[in-house]
Amino acid sequence: MDLKNKVAIVTGAASGIGRELAMELARHGCTLVLVDIAEEGLAKALDEVKVHAPASTAETCDISNHEQVRQMVKAIHERHGSIDILVNNAAIMSVKLFKDLSKGEFKRHMDVNYYGPVALIRDVVPIMEKQGKGVIINVASVGAKLVVPGTSAYAASKAAIQAFSEALYYELKDRGIHVGIVVPGGIKTGIFNAVDNKLGVYYRDQCTTPPSKITRSIRQAIEKERFETVVPFSSRILLGVHAHLPSIFRKSLLSRLRPYFE
Ligand SMILES: NC(=O)c1ccc[n+]([C@@H]2O[C@H](COP(=O)([O-])OP(=O)(O)OC[C@H]3O[C@@H](n4cnc5c(N)ncnc54)[C@H](OP(=O)(O)O)[C@@H]3O)[C@@H](O)[C@H]2O)c1
Repeated sequence: MDLKNKVAIVTGAASGIGRELAMELARHGCTLVLVDIAEEGLAKALDEVKVHAPASTAETCDISNHEQVRQMVKAIHERHGSIDILVNNAAIMSVKLFKDLSKGEFKRHMDVNYYGPVALIRDVVPIMEKQGKGVIINVASVGAKLVVPGTSAYAASKAAIQAFSEALYYELKDRGIHVGIVVPGGIKTGIFNAVDNKLGVYYRDQCTTPPSKITRSIRQAIEKERFETVVPFSSRILLGVHAHLPSIFRKSLLSRLRPYFE
C-alpha cells in the first residue's frame, strides 16, 4: 500500500515501538490516529507526530473495553473519512512464574493482547471492506515462537494473535484487506518497567535494540503487504537455530534460567 495520504491507527502509540512507528508512518505521508491507555505519553507523542502529519489525532482508550473500542472506531471514521491502516501494537507483559500469576493477571493478558486487537479488527473490517482496501498489522512476538519461562500468559496471548492473523490473512485477502504480523524480539522499551523479580530483570537486560531500529522494516512490511516480518535480523537467526535444534535449545535454556526462578 502506498502510504501517501492514508489514515493509520496505531495502538500503544504513547511509547516504545508504537510511538516510533507512528513517527515513521507520519514521515512517509500518513495521517495518524494514536491510541493508548496512557494519556500523558499520548499527548507528547501527538505533538511529535503533528510536526510531520498535522491532521493527526489521538484517542485515549483501553482496548480491552469493547464498547470504548466500538465508539472510538466510529468517531475516527467520522472525523477522518477513512481507515486505511490498523496496527494492533498495544500490549502488556508480566514476567512471573505461572504459580505466582493471579487469575486476573492471566486474563488481563488475553483481554488486552488478544481480545483487544480482535475487537478493533471486528469494527474496522467493515469500513475497509466498503473502501475496497486496507492493511491490518498485528504485533506478535518472538516470545510466542521461542517461549521462555515466566511468560505463560504473555506468550499464550501472542500465540493466539499469531494464529488468528494467519486465519484472517486467507479470509480477507480476496476482500481487499491484507493482514500481516510483525514479530519483534529484544527491543528496549518500557514494557519491562514493572518487572520486580530476577527473571524479569534478566530478560529486560537482554533487550537492547532501540525501537527506532525496527520501524523501517515494519513500514516496509505495510507498503509491501508482507505476511510475516521478524525484527531485528538477529531474532530471525535465533528463531532459525531454535527451529532446527529445539531440544538442545530447551535443555540449555532450562539450565541457564533455573537460577532465576524464585
Ligand atoms: N519490547 C520487546 O522486546 C517486544 C518483543 C516482542 C513483542 N513486543 C510487542 O511490541 C508491542 C509494543 O510493545 P513495546 O515494547 O513498545 O511496549 P510499551 O513501550 O510498553 O508500549 C505498549 C503501549 O501499549 C499501552 N497499553 C497497554 N495496555 C493498553 C490498553 N489496555 N489499551 C491501550 N493501550 C494499552 C501501554 O500503556 P502503559 O505503559 O500504560 O501500559 C504502552 O503505552 C507489544 O505488542 C509487545 O508485545 C515487544
